[in-house]
Amino acid sequence: MSDATRRLADGNDIPLLGLGVWQVPDGPECVNAVRWALELGYRHIDTAQAYGNEESVGRALRESGVPREDVFITTKFYPRRRGDPAAEAERSLRRLGVDQVDLYIIHWPQGGPTWAWPGMEKARELGYTRSIGVSNFSVEELDAVIGVATKAPPSANQVQFSPFEYRRALLEACERSGVVLEAYSPLGTGRHLGDETVSRIAGRLGRTPAQVLLRWCVQRGIPVIPKSTHRERIEENAQIFDFTLTDEDMDALDALDRTRGTAVARERKWW
Ligand code: A2P
Repeated sequence: MSDATRRLADGNDIPLLGLGVWQVPDGPECVNAVRWALELGYRHIDTAQAYGNEESVGRALRESGVPREDVFITTKFYPRRRGDPAAEAERSLRRLGVDQVDLYIIHWPQGGPTWAWPGMEKARELGYTRSIGVSNFSVEELDAVIGVATKAPPSANQVQFSPFEYRRALLEACERSGVVLEAYSPLGTGRHLGDETVSRIAGRLGRTPAQVLLRWCVQRGIPVIPKSTHRERIEENAQIFDFTLTDEDMDALDALDRTRGTAVARERKWW
């Protein structure tokens, strides 16, 4: 385990490794996964209003005994109902049982990329969150938000990212704009674990395919949030700071990209 972090443009630090809880049902399964992760040294949990499991994340945090201030918590504004991001943030805080989250991001650019941003800035001003950002935003959508930001530009853009979804143009645009790209579905929701190139590199290094895929991100300084509800996998996914991929390994993994270096943040519009 490691306490490696990445500095956001607003000065806050985000741990490179977090546990994602997308598709983990509210209740014991989510409480256990988050509690195990915290016991195993994770200090970053990524949830969302749309996941419906913020209460379980909050319960696990309290049960773990880990001080609130030691854990980086992300939640996401659910844009579907076109509500007020600040009011929805306050509801998230109540469900999580915390006074503030560390990062609050627009889950996807539904209804257009800019309408929610003033409310996101308000949520930050009210102290509901330390940082604000976006998710699933393309270069154009990111530029649009940056254009309307009056108090704070987005600190992060969380997108689907892995060697197979190596969105080079998007990554470069984020870097140029001072936005940290965060990787969700770094294992391709499990699909990439059986890949031959990934397995070959893992075999040579005496590591697992999951560790190779996650290392590919953190070696670039990209925060990564693998999801698992199994304790042994949560533990395995944290052992990625004690080995290095060679330049040849990185090149071989880079070559797996199927997006042809796209500037787009997602495979398709799914809402
Ligand atoms: P499970 O939750 O049953 O452990 P992603 O983070 O890319 O969305 O991938 C998540 C998927 O990969 C989940 O189905 C998860 O299953 C599985 N997974 C997570 N970590 C590992 C691992 N170390 N080995 C094998 N499968 C894993």
